[in-house]
Amino acid sequence: MEHEVQLKNEGDTIRFGASLGEFLLGGGRVYIKGNLGAGKTTLCRGILRKFGFFGAVKSPTFTLVEPYELETGTIYHFDLYRLADPDELEYIGMDEYFEVCNLCLVEWPERADGKLPGADLEIELILKNRSRDIILRPITCKGKTICENTMNSWLVSENISGREVFREDESI
Ligand SMILES: Nc1ncnc2c1ncn2[C@@H]1O[C@H](COP(=O)(O)OP(=O)(O)OP(=O)(O)O)[C@@H](O)[C@H]1O
Ligand SMILES: [Mg+2]
Repeated sequence: MEHEVQLKNEGDTIRFGASLGEFLLGGGRVYIKGNLGAGKTTLCRGILRKFGFFGAVKSPTFTLVEPYELETGTIYHFDLYRLADPDELEYIGMDEYFEVCNLCLVEWPERADGKLPGADLEIELILKNRSRDIILRPITCKGKTICENTMNSWLVSENISGREVFREDESI
């Protein structure tokens, strides 16, 4: 089952990424689609925050992959936008990156032209004028669990911020 959520601003994308990150601590393959500027890297930044990384996160457009070796696990962040030939993935030793316990976040997975191992979860970000929509599509059982837990966690965090707004209104 697909899940769709509206992300009203950059902060929402980061918070949603953090909700997702909570359930990616055991690793997984998350493929993130969306046009240029749709918020893919911003989402990855939110995920990385949950793993305790607060530094700058940039799309590794020219190097194809950026490894983050963190106490909570290893994350490989790919950006395949400039992949000239899908066979290049073999030269960079892709199989090792995609070992089961690693977390692989892949921007522009469609550029690999089917040469990537199957995803647990596909994400699509849709660019709107001022906001973004995010769609979660689980592929494996693991992906399904990740999605359901993320949605629950997101709804709880939304309710909390909703209540805070309500309290502000009441005090006027
Ligand atoms: N929910 C949102 N609402 C409005 N703006 C957002 C939202 N999420 C992210 N942005 C903004 O969108 C811009 C592009 O974000 P980002 O770099 O993450 O896109 P990207 O999909 O990784 O692009 P690329 O394909 O070029 O790597 C940033 O300025 C970011 O602040
Ligand atoms: Mg990017």
